[in-house]
Amino acid sequence: MTFDRLETTLRLRGGHRLHGAVRVHGSKNATLPIMAASLLCDGEVVIKRAPRVTDVSVMEALLESLGARVREHGTNELRISAANLGQTRAPYTLVRKLNASFDLTGALLGRLGRAEVPLPGGCVIGTRATDLHEMGFRALGADVRGARGYLIVEAPDGLRGADVSFRFPSVGATRNVMLAAVYADGTTTLRNVAMEPEVVDLANFLNAAGARISGHGTDTIVIEGVQRLHGVEYEVIGDRIAAGTLLLAGAITRGAVRVDGTDPRHHGALLAALSECGVACSHGVDWIAADAAGARSGTDILTAPFPGFPTDLQPTMTAFLATCPGTSVIEETIFNARFAYVNELVRMGADVRVQMDSNAAVVKGPAELEGAPVEAADIRGGAALVVAGLAARSETEIAGLEFIDRGYERLEEMLTELGAQIQRSSGIVALAEAASAYETSTMPTVG
Ligand code: EPZ
Repeated sequence: MTFDRLETTLRLRGGHRLHGAVRVHGSKNATLPIMAASLLCDGEVVIKRAPRVTDVSVMEALLESLGARVREHGTNELRISAANLGQTRAPYTLVRKLNASFDLTGALLGRLGRAEVPLPGGCVIGTRATDLHEMGFRALGADVRGARGYLIVEAPDGLRGADVSFRFPSVGATRNVMLAAVYADGTTTLRNVAMEPEVVDLANFLNAAGARISGHGTDTIVIEGVQRLHGVEYEVIGDRIAAGTLLLAGAITRGAVRVDGTDPRHHGALLAALSECGVACSHGVDWIAADAAGARSGTDILTAPFPGFPTDLQPTMTAFLATCPGTSVIEETIFNARFAYVNELVRMGADVRVQMDSNAAVVKGPAELEGAPVEAADIRGGAALVVAGLAARSETEIAGLEFIDRGYERLEEMLTELGAQIQRSSGIVALAEAASAYETSTMPTVG
């Protein structure tokens, strides 16, 4: 008996130096919370440059399940109207696909005084704790309890401004408590907050809709409560993680790549790390570029909250470091299980050892990477396998493409613009035959 299933993979032939310029899409991690924030607005919200990625589609479905109306206009514009918002309970079937949906808690609490959202628990990259979100909601006067896997947050008489100090600058908790505080009575001060550009973008969006937020981009945010937010048209920032991925894709091939549509102030840690490896970096007002012809060594990386090295680029950076001479140590301080992709990198010939006790990876380079059939298990680990495949001698076939599509808008098209030989291929695979499919098919040579 055979069991047929449709499988889409990315197939790429490495060994070509990437060169040229490409424009990056809008930021997924800015768009998702801004979509949640649109629930606070009583007029239509138009989000421009929203990336066409599956996480955004899931958030669209979530907003609709709560009573909002979402329309797609063209490729990258979303129009959201929350005039008829009625539901306060987010369905588990959708939320389990998207950690960012937890941002709905603050928005629903602020708008309707009640939110029931499934607890995120954990995911493949590590624990997703919510204690800081809960602490912030409580400080604003909400009643917070858990029931059957849901977090229930209520403030029937409204929220009141408070002074909140986070023990860690959580991106999600900063966003969530900021969303709730927009309609609180009085002034809220959030201390030790996340300074990530996506948090700043959310605050800029809220201010454009009539909120009174200051201090975003520093470690203290002050929110003066307001009575209402109106509709607004807003363009999200460029995706700094996708931009960094494209830059590292160029660097691993020792090519020269420019990424347009991204703010260089979002890339300080990445550009510093690449420079240490001998990659020549430059930037203009809205572009960054890297020429890796002179890459000569690895470097050590410590992931940290912004402006530190982004955890979302840790897997891709590790793939690049595997091809650099010398030993590099990559220490992950944000998530407790973000090295799952390493096994696949090792199958491609990388010399990487994960030290579980210190949540670090030791990379010895330079490795001559070889193509292999591999599988993505999360968004950024998947991107790392694509980047590794670009430097591999032979063909790489990447399964688990649904993870990559969660965060990158047609990654293969952006890479093709830079000269990569990469294509998406789908087909019905009979599982009994799947084992031999990879052996018998080869990718047509492009260009
Ligand atoms: C956001 O996740 C991003 N997601 C992540 O991107 C990103 O990796 C992360 O920020 C760090 O930059 C979105 O924006 C949708 P956190 P978030 O709250 O908000 C712990 C990607 O690939 N923590 O800063 O979940 C938590 O357990 C994704 O695009 C608590 O202990 O990040 C984690 O270890 C992956 N208590 C760490 O902080 C809390 O109450 C970072 O979490 C909250 C968090």
